[in-house]
Amino acid sequence: MSTLSKSDTPIYVIEWQPIGLKSTGIQQQTILAAAQSAGIRFVAFCGGNGTCGSCKIRIIKGELSPITETERARLSDEDFAHGMRLACQIHPLSDLKIEIPPSTLSTEQRLQLEGEGFLSIFSQKTCPIQSVHLQIKEPSILDSCADTVRIKKALLITGINISCIHPRLLHSISDVLRELHWDIQLILRNQEVIAVLPKNAIPLGLAVDIGTTKIAAYLIDLKTGFIVLKKGEMNPQISYGEDIISRIAYTNINPEGREALQKNLIHTINKLIRDLCKGIHVVPNQIVETVFVGNTAIHHFFCNLPVGQLGRYPFVAAVSEALNFSASDFGLKISPAAGVYLPPNIAGYVGADHIAMLIGTNSDQCNRTRIAIDIGTNTEISLIHQGKIFSCSCASGPAFEGAHISCGMRAADGAIERVQISDGVFQIKTISDQPPIGFCGSGILDMVAALRKSGIINARGNFNKEDPRVQKAERNYEFVVVSKEKSTTGKAITVTRADINEIILAKSAIRTGIEILLETTGITSDQIEEFIVAGAFGTFLNVNSAVIVGMFPDINPEKFQQVGNAAGTGACAMLRSTEIRKRCEELSQRITYVELSTYPNFNDTLISWMHL
Ligand code: FES
Repeated sequence: MSTLSKSDTPIYVIEWQPIGLKSTGIQQQTILAAAQSAGIRFVAFCGGNGTCGSCKIRIIKGELSPITETERARLSDEDFAHGMRLACQIHPLSDLKIEIPPSTLSTEQRLQLEGEGFLSIFSQKTCPIQSVHLQIKEPSILDSCADTVRIKKALLITGINISCIHPRLLHSISDVLRELHWDIQLILRNQEVIAVLPKNAIPLGLAVDIGTTKIAAYLIDLKTGFIVLKKGEMNPQISYGEDIISRIAYTNINPEGREALQKNLIHTINKLIRDLCKGIHVVPNQIVETVFVGNTAIHHFFCNLPVGQLGRYPFVAAVSEALNFSASDFGLKISPAAGVYLPPNIAGYVGADHIAMLIGTNSDQCNRTRIAIDIGTNTEISLIHQGKIFSCSCASGPAFEGAHISCGMRAADGAIERVQISDGVFQIKTISDQPPIGFCGSGILDMVAALRKSGIINARGNFNKEDPRVQKAERNYEFVVVSKEKSTTGKAITVTRADINEIILAKSAIRTGIEILLETTGITSDQIEEFIVAGAFGTFLNVNSAVIVGMFPDINPEKFQQVGNAAGTGACAMLRSTEIRKRCEELSQRITYVELSTYPNFNDTLISWMHL
C-alpha cells in the first residue's frame, strides 16, 4: 500500500529481487534513481540517458509509466513479453516487485587484483613513513610541559628532531597518550608526527587503483612491505555514466555532479577500507599512508577538481603534477593525518594509472622495444623504443566489459569467458562453470574470433546465412550460441550483427593506437620485442583471438606477456618507496604524449582496421 509524503506525493514500496531488499520510490523518480537511493548498484553505462540498454529489469508485479520510444529502440518484443523494461526510463505508479537480472546488478564481479612483473625490494630507508617506539615520562606538577612538547623532547633524546605534530592530531593526542599510558609508537613522515599508535600495532598502507569500472585496493604492512590483504569493488560512479565522457557530461549538466561523484567514490573506498581492516582484525586508524592511481578524469573526480575542460578540445588536465594531501582532506576513514599521494598525470586521457602500470612493469627502465597496453573502457598504450616513451589513449569503449553486447554481462559467475571451435563445434566455458547467462569481454572476443575463423562471418562481420545456426533476428541476423531451451535465463544466448560491430569498433580503436605509435617512432610491428598486456580484461583475454580479430599485431606469440593488474602493482610500489615516487615523477617528464584525434592519419588508420 502506498503512503503519502508531506507534499501529498504517493510513496510506493519497491521490492527488489533477488536481493530481497525493500525501499521506496515516488512517481517523479525513475526506477534507476530509486535503486541508487536504496544503495543498489545498477550497471547504468550511459548514466541514465537511455542509450546503452544496460539497466534492464523485469517487472514481476505492479504498475509503471508507459513504454517509451527509447525503450522500444533498445528492447526487443521478446524482452517486452518477458516484462523487461529500462530502469532509467520508467517511473513507479504503484507498489512494485522488480527482478534485477545478474547482468544489470553491478556486484559479484570478478575483479583483477593480481599483478606480476615488478618485484620491489622493500627498504625501511626509502619507506615514506618511519615508526618510533617511545616510553614517555608522564607529566607531573614539577614537569608540566604540554603534551606536544613532551613528545618532541622525548624524540630529541632518541636523536630525532621533528618539525611539527600534524594539526589533525591535536584534537585527540592528549587522550590517546593517556589511554596508551605514554607507551606509544609514533609514526613520522617527513619529520612530522602523523599518527600515534599502540606500541605493537602494525602501521599499514593502502594502495588503490581506481579504474573507470573497477577499484582494486591493497593493504600493506609498512614494516615488511608485504601485501596483507586485497579486495576489489565496482566503481560506483558507473551509475553516472559508463565512461569518462558520460561522467564529465553528467557533471556539466548537474551543478552538484562533481560532489556526488566524489562522495560516491569516497564512500566505496571507505567501505573497502572497513572490509580490509575487518579481514585482518585491525582498526582503520592503523592506515597511515596511501597512494591512489587512476586515469586523469578519475584523479580529478577523486580530488573534486574541474573536469569540464577535460571533455573539450584540447582536453587539458587541471593538474598534472604529483599531489600530496592528508586523509582528512577527503573524508577517508583512516588515521586523519595519513598521507595521500597522487602520482602525476601525463595528459588529459593518460593518467597516473598508466604511470603506475609502466612502473609496475619496469617499463621506464626497459631498453628493448616494447608495447605496454592497459585495456579498459579507456585503453592506454605506450611504445618504448631506444629509451624513448610514446603514449596514447584510445576510446575502446565498454564492449570488453560486456556492455553494448546484446547478451553481454560483466565477468561474473555464469559469464561465457572462453569459446573454442573444434570440428565446427563451438565449446563454451563459463566463469565458475555455472550455467551460461551471457558473454563477458574475453568470451565475446573469443566468440567473434571463432566465428571469423570458421567462416561464419566474413571480414566485414556479415553472417554466412547458409549456416544453420545463423537465424533471422528482429533487426538483422544472429548466431545462436545457447538455445532458448538450454539457456537458464529462458532466452537464447546469441551473437548479433550489432555485437560484432561493437567488437570491430573497440578493436580497431586499440589497433589504431598501436599503429600510430609505431608510425610515430618510424618502426614496424616486426620490431616489437615485447608486448605487455595489463589490466583485468588483458589478463583473461585469449591473445590468439585478439590477433585473429586484428586487435593485436600478428607477431611471435612468445613476445606477449599478460601481467595482471600492473597498475595496482605500481601503486603498491609507490606506497612502499619514495624512490619509486621519484621514478614516477621523472617518468612523467620523459613521456611524449601522442594525441590520436589530431594525428593526421587517424581517420584513415581507424577505417583501415575496421574489419576482421
Ligand atoms: S539505458 Fe538505462 S542506464 Fe543506459
